[in-house]
Amino acid sequence: MPRIFLLTGCLFAYLWLGTGWQYGYSQEKRTFQEEMAALRGDKAGPDDSGDVYHGGGLSAYYTGHKELFPGKGKYGQLFNFLPMVRWYDPDYYYNNATFRPGSTVVGQYTGQECIVCHTVANPQVVVQWKKSRHSSPGEGKEVVGCEKCHGTDHEKLLMPPYNTCGECHPQQVTGHRDGGRGSHAHAYHLDLIEEGCYIEKPAEEVSACLTCHAIAENRCDGCHTRHEFSAIEARRPTSCGVCHSGPEQYEYEMYMQSYHGMIYQGEAHGWDFSQPLVAKNYKAPTCAYCHMQQGEHNVRKFSTAYTYMGTSLVDRGAPRYREIRDWWVKACQGCHSSRFARDQLEAMDEAVKLSFTKYREAMAIVVDLLKEGLLDPMPKDLAPDWMGRHNFSLLPDGYTRKYNVSEIERLTYELLVDITDAIYKAKAHGAVYSPIYGYWEWAQDRWLIKIKAEASRLRRLSEIEERLGIKHEAYSFWSHGEYTDMYLGWRRKEGDIR
Ligand code: HEC
Ligand code: HEC
Ligand code: HEC
Ligand code: HEC
Ligand code: HEC
Ligand code: HEC
Ligand code: HEC
Ligand code: HEC
Repeated sequence: MPRIFLLTGCLFAYLWLGTGWQYGYSQEKRTFQEEMAALRGDKAGPDDSGDVYHGGGLSAYYTGHKELFPGKGKYGQLFNFLPMVRWYDPDYYYNNATFRPGSTVVGQYTGQECIVCHTVANPQVVVQWKKSRHSSPGEGKEVVGCEKCHGTDHEKLLMPPYNTCGECHPQQVTGHRDGGRGSHAHAYHLDLIEEGCYIEKPAEEVSACLTCHAIAENRCDGCHTRHEFSAIEARRPTSCGVCHSGPEQYEYEMYMQSYHGMIYQGEAHGWDFSQPLVAKNYKAPTCAYCHMQQGEHNVRKFSTAYTYMGTSLVDRGAPRYREIRDWWVKACQGCHSSRFARDQLEAMDEAVKLSFTKYREAMAIVVDLLKEGLLDPMPKDLAPDWMGRHNFSLLPDGYTRKYNVSEIERLTYELLVDITDAIYKAKAHGAVYSPIYGYWEWAQDRWLIKIKAEASRLRRLSEIEERLGIKHEAYSFWSHGEYTDMYLGWRRKEGDIR
């Protein structure tokens, strides 16, 4: 009898250790999925089987996308893209002979022949093209047919990046490639594919980043969409809103809440957007009116300083920026008095400076916890970052990230990147509601309280543990798990970064 107890006990212990709390970092065959499947009388299997896994898919395995394209840039050897990248970096992943997708249609065709077939294959493409200036350009100019952008050889079709457009529109391309860090010119090649927060995550998860960042840099149809390529469309705020909206880049929402945006929403159906963007033609300004004056395609031409979306502090009203401030005041002057404009812009400067006091107050609390070893978990107890390091995310030798951090780091990240920079965007764009209720005051207050409450909890726990003589080790779920194990920090090998 005792022997049987011993045996069943061992069996239970084996199952428990082999699966339960060891789940994640054990290479044992019996996984959480198998446990779940057994419990539910279901079976565990790969996510692409087509089977329905009950309980929110809890008994499936994520098996990863089969076909991946090699990464690109300084850290290209560390990550991959889904094949959709060919549309977002067409010069390299579509036009390049190594990746060229080919076609089931063979032969060389004239522009007229393209239209005959494509009127059937993709009728709306032809409808748009026929509406465009490319199909009926001004006097003395040649029609810009399908073949001018896609080539004539159907087996070696091309997808046009900005330099194809540049053959006929050099001025716009020059502007588009200008502006330095933070501009559309760096949206993909520096600020996305060389950023830890992109590289560290699986391609399947971050493929959506390409849609905004790679269109912005590599293509010209972000604001005047294919195949109509209409300046009228680009002059409207909706052309920017597709990318400049949501957390971290609330410009569209802020603009829409302002008098300018409300007037646009109420009255713009009657405005003639074929007219140049100057005060005599428009009652209220749109994004391009303020940021792309006289067709300037460098959207940072009128930016005072590069502040990483507004997450770095600068006084835009400082004496050394006098010239650019005068330029902005003049931009408002078409419709406002210069004193009114200056007062509004100064209110923005002061709101930005004040907003950083709350961030600094929070950082002081968090950095103290770090120094005293009280974060739960400490950086050493998390998965290694994409460089293989265990650095604190919020200090210069780390990098801000949304996962693989402790609760209080994430809260502090949000206070800076989701809230503090939104105050700048709100005040720059005349939002009336957001600086108080939506973002700024109330949200910042809330996050500062959350950070303090968490700090207080960590300190009290550590005091109790000290009195009781408990030596707490961070739980392993901070560094391992089905998702966490897919992090680049675990997958990279020594010497990966050359
Ligand atoms: C004989 C009919 C026919 C003619 C002529 C033709 N196409 Fe196509 N084209 C198709 C069909 C069908 C497809 C989709 C099937 C495929 O690509 O394998 C297609 C696909 C495309 C695509 C999309 C490629 C992709 O990767 O999805 C482009 C771009 C294109 N054609 C451009 C052109 C251009 C430019 C011309 C003229 C130089 C042209 N086509 C002439 C039938 C035609
Ligand atoms: C002024 C340049 C230009 C001209 C002219 C042009 N295209 Fe395109 N086309 C583009 C751009 C830009 C894209 C998007 C490229 C990318 O995704 O990387 C595109 C994409 C496409 C696609 C795939 C897009 C999708 O949404 O599935 C097809 C099909 C296509 N073009 C067909 C045509 C046909 C047919 C014509 C002629 C009626 C034509 N194009 C004329 C610039 C042009
Ligand atoms: C072969 C030369 C050529 C190429 C290549 C070309 N365009 Fe054009 N584009 C023209 C001509 C010509 C016009 C009409 C200008 C005129 O009538 O004065 C035009 C007009 C335009 C306009 C103004 C439309 C309006 O509403 O006033 C836009 C926007 C535009 N092109 C964008 C593009 C983009 C984006 C690309 C690349 C995807 C491109 N073009 C490629 C020749 C070209
Ligand atoms: C296809 C997406 C997309 C569209 C459309 C787009 N942008 Fe952008 N924009 C971006 C991205 C991404 C960045 C950030 C680039 C970086 O940081 O390298 C950016 C950066 C900027 C910046 C500089 C921000 C800074 O912090 O320095 C300005 C200003 C700007 N865009 C204005 C506009 C305006 C105005 C429009 C519309 C007329 C527009 N953008 C349309 C994606 C887009
Ligand atoms: C009334 C003029 C005006 C309008 C309209 C406007 N902006 Fe702005 N925007 C500003 C000012 C002023 C700043 C602060 C610029 C500075 O001093 O660097 C700014 C800042 C920005 C920034 C940050 C740039 C940087 O370098 O930090 C982005 C991005 C931006 N605006 C995008 C947009 C978008 C998108 C729209 C439309 C939804 C829009 N803006 C509408 C005036 C305007
Ligand atoms: C950030 C949004 C945006 C992007 C990206 C963009 N454009 Fe434009 N484009 C505009 C706006 C807005 C206008 C209208 C400007 C005006 O009213 O003077 C315009 C106008 C044009 C015109 C018509 C100029 C005229 O005087 O009629 C051409 C040509 C053009 N763009 C080409 C390009 C090319 C080529 C690229 C890529 C290098 C590009 N655009 C990328 C927003 C954009
Ligand atoms: C909805 C469009 C959109 C998506 C999706 C998007 N971004 Fe952005 N991103 C932007 C815009 C717009 C800016 C510039 C905002 C500003 O300056 O105000 C930006 C700025 C940034 C910056 C700051 C760059 C700088 O120099 O200012 C980084 C880094 C960044 N994005 C990374 C990412 C990553 C990583 C992803 C995917 C996880 C992503 N973005 C997804 C639109 C987008
Ligand atoms: C093309 C015209 C136009 C331009 C340019 C323009 N605005 Fe306005 N703005 C308006 C109109 C119209 C209103 C609504 C006036 C009212 O409330 O009676 C308005 C309202 C405002 C308001 C809120 C109303 C108030 O009385 O407080 C602010 C703030 C504002 N604008 C700031 C600016 C700033 C700053 C600039 C330059 C960066 C600027 N505007 C550029 C047309 C313009």
